[in-house]
Amino acid sequence: MTAASSAPESIAAFRHREDLASIPVYRQGKPAPTDRRAFKLSSNENPYGPLPSVVKAIDESALATMNRYPDMHGWKVVERLAKRYDVDPAAIILGAGSSEIITELVNALTGPGTEVIYPWRSFEAYPIIVRGAGATPVEVPLTVDLRHDIPAMIDAITDRTRLIIVNNPNNPTSTTVSRAEAEQLMEAVPSDVVVLFDEAYYQFNTDSDTEVAMDLYRKYPNVVVAHTFSKAYGLAGLRIGFGIGPVPVINEMSKVALPFAVSDVAQTAAVASLDAQDELDARVKDIIAERERIIDALRGQGWHVPPSGANYFWLQLGGLTDAVADKLTEAGVIARVFSGCGIRVSIGTHEANDLVIETCASVISELPAAAEQWGE
Ligand SMILES: Cc1ncc(COP(=O)(O)O)c(C=O)c1O
Repeated sequence: MTAASSAPESIAAFRHREDLASIPVYRQGKPAPTDRRAFKLSSNENPYGPLPSVVKAIDESALATMNRYPDMHGWKVVERLAKRYDVDPAAIILGAGSSEIITELVNALTGPGTEVIYPWRSFEAYPIIVRGAGATPVEVPLTVDLRHDIPAMIDAITDRTRLIIVNNPNNPTSTTVSRAEAEQLMEAVPSDVVVLFDEAYYQFNTDSDTEVAMDLYRKYPNVVVAHTFSKAYGLAGLRIGFGIGPVPVINEMSKVALPFAVSDVAQTAAVASLDAQDELDARVKDIIAERERIIDALRGQGWHVPPSGANYFWLQLGGLTDAVADKLTEAGVIARVFSGCGIRVSIGTHEANDLVIETCASVISELPAAAEQWGE
């Protein structure tokens, strides 16, 4: 059969939601070019491949079941997590990455005429997810030191507020939220307004005064925690994350969940990763040590780098962002560029990090003004 030549490749007009015009398309971190030495440091991925035990677990069982739908609830992962966090399994929901958890929560709680408060700049998916649900984003600017402005977030609460998002550590600025700030927020939020703590990078958070969302979950009735296997666990390509929250909220989220979104391979890899916790902890420790090595080196070169609680660091560069980005790209450092604002660089392998340090040294000698875009 030949392809129908009349198949339309475009359509002049179609009935659809006009409000989608205001939604940006999510931009994926740029890949590294393959024709020269370059490192992809644009998506906060773990630079190491999966642990050998995780690969073995996938080889042995998961690939044999590809003709079957996965367990929709992912009980083997959920039971393991329930024991680890000492919570009711019904309080846990799996998703294809924590992006899906955030999306389900927004879809379950919000809609036209309602508001979602979150810090800005923050994770680029928030405005897309919130607008996608037809809700109104209320973006609260970060403080001058690039942290959540908790009093301003509290001031932004209205009768229309359905959800408040805290991103700790914040992507892309890497800054953390303190225990006192989190408590201040929780004490001010009406108990029927849910607060989401997106802790995608919490394993890298070494700030001794940071809040831990699971502690708040145990203390307040309106906390949902989103975690992922994409970052510390290095399973970004398999798509698995989870939410922990009050059972009635989790129940509503499961109504809007995409059925079978989390593959059996992903579930098997997650269980094997939880079993290999010591090896994973060693990798996380290594990434944290590399992060500190880079930040110390860059500060020594004269850069202002905010303290990082994540597997990336941030350069606030304002109008110099594109100029610095061009120099990094030319040298093979493929970072995430937020034009007119700054650059986020993920921590990579030792070799990649050496290149970052070396390149930053030459950039600041050519563009000393880059150091003056943000003062600590
Ligand atoms: C702050 C934050 N939350 C959530 C996610 C979602 O990650 P995933 O869907 O891979 O779990 C990311 C990914 O970059 C992130 O930076």
